[in-house]
Amino acid sequence: MSVQDEGLEAGEPAFTVSLNGSGGPLKGWVVVDTLVDSLAMGGTRMTPDVTEEEVRALARGMTHKLTLVGLPIGGAKAGIVSDGTAREETLRTFGRTVAPLLHGGLHLGCDLGVTPADRAVFFAEAGYDPRRKNRAVDMPYDWRTYYEPLVDCTGHGVGVAALAALEQLHGATGSRRVVIQGFGTVGRAVARFLEARGHRIVGVADIEGTISAERLPADDLIALTDSFGRIDRSRLPQEVTVSQEPEAWLDVDADVLVLAANHNAVNSANVHRLRAGLVVEGGNITVSPEAKLKMAVAGTTLVPDVVANVGGAAAAGLALARIVPFELPGDARKDWVFDWVATRVRNNTRDLLEIAAERPQSDPLPTLVSARRKEHR
Ligand SMILES: NC(=O)c1ccc[n+]([C@@H]2O[C@H](COP(=O)([O-])OP(=O)(O)OC[C@H]3O[C@@H](n4cnc5c(N)ncnc54)[C@H](O)[C@@H]3O)[C@@H](O)[C@H]2O)c1
Repeated sequence: MSVQDEGLEAGEPAFTVSLNGSGGPLKGWVVVDTLVDSLAMGGTRMTPDVTEEEVRALARGMTHKLTLVGLPIGGAKAGIVSDGTAREETLRTFGRTVAPLLHGGLHLGCDLGVTPADRAVFFAEAGYDPRRKNRAVDMPYDWRTYYEPLVDCTGHGVGVAALAALEQLHGATGSRRVVIQGFGTVGRAVARFLEARGHRIVGVADIEGTISAERLPADDLIALTDSFGRIDRSRLPQEVTVSQEPEAWLDVDADVLVLAANHNAVNSANVHRLRAGLVVEGGNITVSPEAKLKMAVAGTTLVPDVVANVGGAAAAGLALARIVPFELPGDARKDWVFDWVATRVRNNTRDLLEIAAERPQSDPLPTLVSARRKEHR
């Protein structure tokens, strides 16, 4: 690739809305980073410590993700400050409060702390149905029928990114050892995907600690995991090692580390413990900017969030922009969406690592984003 680096967008988002709640208390923000043809989209994060700054960074990441895959939709994100107490009431208040935004062209989906069932609660409260859109033919079925079978799309794309990076780095890959931090929707799908392609899961972390072994069969572990990504320690086989140290996943000897959990999981205080030569961001902003710099100096390859984890957003965007062939039956439609995502993630990963190899001292992402922007113009 030979393109000029124009840099990523600087400056302010299109707009930020502070949420105080309609018909009940609420604390949060909606950040619309960019609008394309009056549309924007992004997930909704609900954690006790989410900040406006975090939501802004996530919304900017959405703009980059959608640009990288060429979808004509702007980037946005919502954040709700909550520890999940009075969950249903909070989500209903959120739905009432953001209703005008949802009806005005902003699509909000799930993110950390918000499940598909939670999304259904705030959609219903807002009276929002993504099938309805001005100026376009209606979707032939409801959002859950379209979107829920695609729940593993992000993990699929993250797995594709890991494979593409391994091929780029090592040629014919052979079997690699993989550690996955976070065993929720994304982490579980990545585990299945990489194991099915001959790689070995040697470590998995959830909020309670790290489990490691010579080989952790993905389906066996998934059978012990609840829908929030917590693994039941009491039913683990004896040969596995269990650690409660919060960052023990950094000490597992592996070739690939997939980060599929929290913000800044790898940071300046722990980056020196990294053992894997390849890190793939399945979650958003899981490596801090300072840690990224240190990883580049140490020669660790990073596939960043906006390249690797676009799958779920792309699946939603393909429907909102009415690009997906709705007439395909369920399984074929799923294959079509997964293939669409895989093609873009593979190409973006390869091109990003090529740019990185040409200019090892600088961040390759701005160059890739400006190249894609020119192609999609
Ligand atoms: N689900 C998607 O389609 C999607 C799309 C893009 C990005 N993401 C991002 O990926 C990440 C994971 O999403 P998910 O849907 O799998 O979430 P999830 O809620 O289903 O699972 C999160 C997992 O991370 C674990 N976890 C949380 N904090 C941890 C910590 N400090 N240490 C170790 N483990 C921890 C939890 O125990 C759980 O296993 C989030 O950052 C999310 O924003 C998700």
